[in-house]
Amino acid sequence: MFNATTIDAADKPGLYAALAAQARALLEGEHDLIANAANFAALVWHTLPDLNWCGFYLFDGKELVVGPFQGRPACVRIALGRGVCGTAAATGQTQVVADVNAFDDHIACDSASRSEIVVPLFDGERLVGVFDVDSPVLARFDAQDRAGMQRLAAVFMQSLRRPAREVA
Ligand code: SME
Repeated sequence: MFNATTIDAADKPGLYAALAAQARALLEGEHDLIANAANFAALVWHTLPDLNWCGFYLFDGKELVVGPFQGRPACVRIALGRGVCGTAAATGQTQVVADVNAFDDHIACDSASRSEIVVPLFDGERLVGVFDVDSPVLARFDAQDRAGMQRLAAVFMQSLRRPAREVA
């Protein structure tokens, strides 16, 4: 079911629509943050081409702390407002960076990274963390990736919500 060869990477909106449906199916019925973050990162990593890091930084109430991811070991803590991740968290805006070397405050965890997209994750007003995807290819992420990643992030955030009838 979770097989990159079954979807067409040239059709980005179609690719993200298929990926969103797969993510929804994969996370359905589970609401645990770490479990869903781990499976979500693995699904995206194995489906999208040209990635070298894909995963989460989670807000601990003070700063961002690395969470479930795929790729090389990464820096552990990022202050709000620092780097691409901290900027996404502090502004609440998705960050698309075509050339990380041209982003003044980029925090280089993997020297292979050339471009990056970071989607902030909020539960209403509450910052949960960010979803960060890096690529070894310059300008890997465009407006279609921004829309697609935001759609994926919404599926992830929805998976964490327990239906009212399950909340004791
Ligand atoms: N490059 C990020 C840090 C996280 S790593 O890419 C995994 C940043 O500047 O926020």
